[in-house]
Amino acid sequence: MYSSHRCFYFLCVVLAAAQPVHAADASKPVSFINDIAPILKEKCFGCHGAKNPKGKLDMTRYANLRKGGTKEDPIIPGNPEDSYLITVLTATDKKRMPPKESGAPLPSQQIELIERWIQQGAPLDAGIKPDADLLRELRLRWTPPPPPAAYPYPVTVTALAFTPDSKKIVVSGHHELTIWDIFRDKLEKRIYTRARRAMAMVFLPDGKLAVAGGRPGEEGDVRLYDLNGGTDRRNVRPTEVVVLDGVHDKRVMVKQLLDADDEVLCLALSADGKKLASGGCDRLVHVWDLSGGYDHIKELPPIENHADWVFGIAFTPDGKRLATASRDKTAKLWDIDAKESILTFPNHQNPVYGVAIKADGTVGYSVGEDNQLRAWTAAAEGKQIRASGGHGRVILKLVAHPKQPLLATCSADQTVRLWNADNGSLVRTLSGHHDYVYAVAISPDGNLIASGAFDGEVRIWKIKDGSLVKAFNASPGLKTVQK
Ligand code: HEC
Repeated sequence: MYSSHRCFYFLCVVLAAAQPVHAADASKPVSFINDIAPILKEKCFGCHGAKNPKGKLDMTRYANLRKGGTKEDPIIPGNPEDSYLITVLTATDKKRMPPKESGAPLPSQQIELIERWIQQGAPLDAGIKPDADLLRELRLRWTPPPPPAAYPYPVTVTALAFTPDSKKIVVSGHHELTIWDIFRDKLEKRIYTRARRAMAMVFLPDGKLAVAGGRPGEEGDVRLYDLNGGTDRRNVRPTEVVVLDGVHDKRVMVKQLLDADDEVLCLALSADGKKLASGGCDRLVHVWDLSGGYDHIKELPPIENHADWVFGIAFTPDGKRLATASRDKTAKLWDIDAKESILTFPNHQNPVYGVAIKADGTVGYSVGEDNQLRAWTAAAEGKQIRASGGHGRVILKLVAHPKQPLLATCSADQTVRLWNADNGSLVRTLSGHHDYVYAVAISPDGNLIASGAFDGEVRIWKIKDGSLVKAFNASPGLKTVQK
């Protein structure tokens, strides 16, 4: 459901066209990490990854590749003809890799390149340990492109956060975060990020912004940003937009908490501000203890029990338990210290995208692919209390009001809805979006609600009467909005 950014395809086409052709230069040393590992990653890691590799051959570490699987080392240095790796790449029978059902044979230039590398002795590049995780090594060598100065296409809004003073809003962009002044009608700052998109954001008690996100299928991260750190790289006039480099400037990107092989999708902060938690495509729940201050953040051992991506996360008010929502069609409640799931709520019978907990900790709420907002007892066996219908399509996010018994949902039906948390009745429907609404946030003062859509539009309403405060497209410099 989270489709990749449209600009991304454009960039890929440009980059693919710029790839150098190696075949012509037979004497040039072939680099394993720069030339070979990217091919293996794209064409082989899917079946020959670290977990349950086919033929017991894990290719994600050089040492494991050279160990071989059910057979011996598939590489004979200096002798490509007799190397089993080349045998399977050039086979025309059922030995061929990748197997016929899963794709075309490798292009001849790629096979020649691998042959040349084996001819040259199949060396590993200096500075890389034989048992280094190649996915991680490839990530280290990847540099993010700068975001577009002016967006050729609208950027999908996947995450939103009000600043602690409730006067500004931070919006996810393409390799950046943008900060908009709600009341002065102005794009104020752009912060470049390594992540292609942010999927969740929360402000920590010290004012730093924790951001979770990544590149789908490639990498995921949780990083802390100081939105007032660093200096602009230009002389800023009052009307100008401040640009901060959250990729390289350590005063802006002040800490990295997590480096993962796929996107991180959700974040939650405990009510006392002492614990931060994340969930993502690797099915893991990570928890950090922030109580020692930001220089002494401690990561607790990750919790694993969901069978699929973790889309949503929320702390109980005492900070001792976590509720999660997963693509495995369940919501769960966890004891953080015991690292055990206390209850599983199965009633959605469809992927669950969002979760929240009542202020007194007794009731859990969850939403998902079944268009329902469900309430369940956050104790014992997790019995359903009620289901509230109304959204015409998938409900993508759920947030709880910080002060009142109110819940907000956003949906592919292009609406945002406010619900009474105590009885599940609909309080208000906020309409006006023209596309899937992916993100919703409530201001810390409890007065405003913001939503962001697939077409880049952000809308901000007053909670008390549903009146529109502001609507804008959060794609800087966008000329024409394509619908
Ligand atoms: C769709 C899944 C799939 C993909 C993609 C795939 N393989 Fe395989 N591979 C297999 C399976 C299944 C086996 C086990 C075959 C057997 O035991 O008969 C295997 C076995 C092998 C072996 C023998 C391992 C051993 O020690 O027994 C080699 C070498 C190999 N693959 C190389 C590759 C390379 C190189 C690529 C990428 C170009 C690749 N494979 C992509 C499924 C895959």
